[in-house]
Amino acid sequence: MSSLFDPFTLKDVTLRNRIAVSPMCQYSAEDGVINAWHYTHLDSLARGGAGLVIAEATAVSPEGRITPGCAGLWSNRQAEAFAPAVRSIKAAGAVPGIQIAHAGRKASANRPWEGDDHMAEDDPRAWQPLAPSALPFGANLPRRPTAMTKDDILKVQRDYVAAAERARQAGFEWLELHFAHGYLAQSFLSPHSNQRDDDYGGSFENRIRFLTETFAAVREVWPQNLPLTVRLGVIEFDGREETVDEATELVRRLAGLGLDLIDVSLGFSIPGADIPWGPGFMAPLAERLRSEAKIPTATSWYISDPQQADQMIRENKVDLVMLGRALLANPHWPYDAARTLGIDKPSWTLPAPYAHWLERYRAA
Ligand SMILES: Cc1cc2nc3c(=O)[nH]c(=O)nc-3n(C[C@H](O)[C@H](O)[C@H](O)COP(=O)(O)O)c2cc1C
Repeated sequence: MSSLFDPFTLKDVTLRNRIAVSPMCQYSAEDGVINAWHYTHLDSLARGGAGLVIAEATAVSPEGRITPGCAGLWSNRQAEAFAPAVRSIKAAGAVPGIQIAHAGRKASANRPWEGDDHMAEDDPRAWQPLAPSALPFGANLPRRPTAMTKDDILKVQRDYVAAAERARQAGFEWLELHFAHGYLAQSFLSPHSNQRDDDYGGSFENRIRFLTETFAAVREVWPQNLPLTVRLGVIEFDGREETVDEATELVRRLAGLGLDLIDVSLGFSIPGADIPWGPGFMAPLAERLRSEAKIPTATSWYISDPQQADQMIRENKVDLVMLGRALLANPHWPYDAARTLGIDKPSWTLPAPYAHWLERYRAA
C-alpha cells in the first residue's frame, strides 16, 4: 500500500512524494513571457516539498491565452524565460512540469481580479476567440467565437506540437495537455459547445477527434521516456451521466495512444452547472477512471486535509494528489502534512537555512 509520502515513478521520472502542484495561472506574464513573479512562485512551491510542480496553463498561441497576462510557449523567447524556473524547481528536488493550453471561446478575458469577463471587443488588447462552433459560453463570457475551419484546427494542432517541443527545450520533464474546463479541447468534446456537422462534430467518434489527433501528434515529439498526461473534464454536472462514460472511453483510447496519467477534472462547458463542491469530491470519479480505464490518475479540488490526501492514496483512489489553493496559502503544506501525519523523515530536506531552525529545534 502506498501513502502520500511514498515516491511515485512514471516512465523515467520519479517524484519524491505523491503531492503535485496543480497548474495555476498567474495572469502576470508580459507577451506570454514569464518573469520574476513566476520564478518566486514556482521556486517556493518546489522548496515547499511537493514532488511535482506543474507550471500554469501556457498558451500554444497568442489567441489561445485566457487573458493578456497568460504565459505562452509560441516563441523561443518564452521558452528561454522558463528555463531558469525549470532549473530552480529541479534544484529544490521537485520534477518540473508544465501544462499547455488553448482557451478556445473563453479566450480574450480580463484577469480574474479585473472582472473575469470577456474584454470589450474594442479593447485594444482583445482578440477574436476560436471555437469548434460559433456558440458563446454565455454569462460572464458572452463573446461569440469564430467557428474553426479545418485549416484552423490543423494550425492549433501544430501549435500544440511546437509548444511541446519548446517545453522540452526549456527542460520540462512532465507535460500536461489542458483538455478540461471548457477551453478549446473540452469544447470539441462537449455537445454544449460543439455542433459541427463535419468529422470534428456530432458523433462521439467525431467529437473526440481533435483531442486524440492532438494528443497523438504531441506524443510523437514528446520523449517516450517522459510522462505525457492530460487534464480532462470528465463530468459537466449537467445531468448527462453519459459524459462520464464518454470520458472513460476517451481515456482508454488516449491510453492506447500513449497517455501516461489522467488528471481528472470538470468540464465547465456551461455556466451555472450544479456542482457539488466539497473536500475531495472528485476522488470517486478519479477512482472510477483508474479502475475502468486502467491508468494512473490524479485529481484536485478542495483537498487541504493531509489525512484526506493520504487516505486517497492509501485507498488507491489516485496515484497523485494535486493541490492548488492550499499551496498558495502555504507553500510548505507538504512539511506541515508530514508533521501532521507523524512522518519522521519526510521525502525531502528543507534547505539548511530553514531546516536548522525548523527541524533541529522542532521539539521546542
Ligand atoms: C489561481 C488559480 C489558477 C488556476 N489556473 C489553472 C490552470 O492554469 N490550469 C488548470 O488546469 N487549472 C487551473 N486552476 C485550477 C487548479 O489547478 C485546481 O484544480 C483548483 O484550484 C482546485 O484545486 P484546489 O481546491 O486545491 O485549489 C487554477 C486555480 C487557481 C486557484
